Amino acid sequence: MRVHVADHPLITHKLTVLRDASTPSPTFRALTAELVTLLAYEATRGVRTHEVQITTPVTTTTGLAISEPRPLIVPILRAGLGMLDGMTTLVPTAEVGFLGMVRNEETLEPSVYAERLPDDLANRQCFVLDPMLATGGSLLSAIEYLFDRGAVDVTAVCLLGAPEGLAMIEKATDGRDVTIVLGALDERLNEHGYIVPGLGDAGDRLYGTV
Ligand code: URA
Repeated sequence: MRVHVADHPLITHKLTVLRDASTPSPTFRALTAELVTLLAYEATRGVRTHEVQITTPVTTTTGLAISEPRPLIVPILRAGLGMLDGMTTLVPTAEVGFLGMVRNEETLEPSVYAERLPDDLANRQCFVLDPMLATGGSLLSAIEYLFDRGAVDVTAVCLLGAPEGLAMIEKATDGRDVTIVLGALDERLNEHGYIVPGLGDAGDRLYGTV
């Protein structure tokens, strides 16, 4: 598993404003989009391309174009939706699918309750959007779901991560082509499973339910 933790003052600045409990949801949403666009730049470093011939006003030359099948962006409902605009801003030709994950209250096991994905994921590079990599349970389920459906590599883009969740995903995906791109790696999880220092409940803050 590859892990990339962003190291850029613009990203840290935007994250600092997101973390602030007094930041209202309209600002939170706008900053999330900007932040994801910056993270998408790193997340798409390995996107598959092929050579194309083009004619400039001056001469003919070769360039690179994103290959088929197009990358697939998969926001995990609900909070991952708040990251979609930022990602499609940078990769407008990507296809978008959706995954809804829910945790069984008795077993605590996450499972997929809704999905809208292309039928054929064979050979697909997938970009999963999930703002908070906390325990890692739902993100791992989503990653496994995509591999089971034929994806060849999966990159998760998260605003914040906790070491506990990162270690769990690393162990569980051993030998698979998984990349995690984080805006920051925080200290730990608290007893309620929240990332510390974190930013609170990302879905609530995005959609104004606090
Ligand atoms: N999900 C959130 O929205 N926030 C956390 O801190 C952990 C999980």
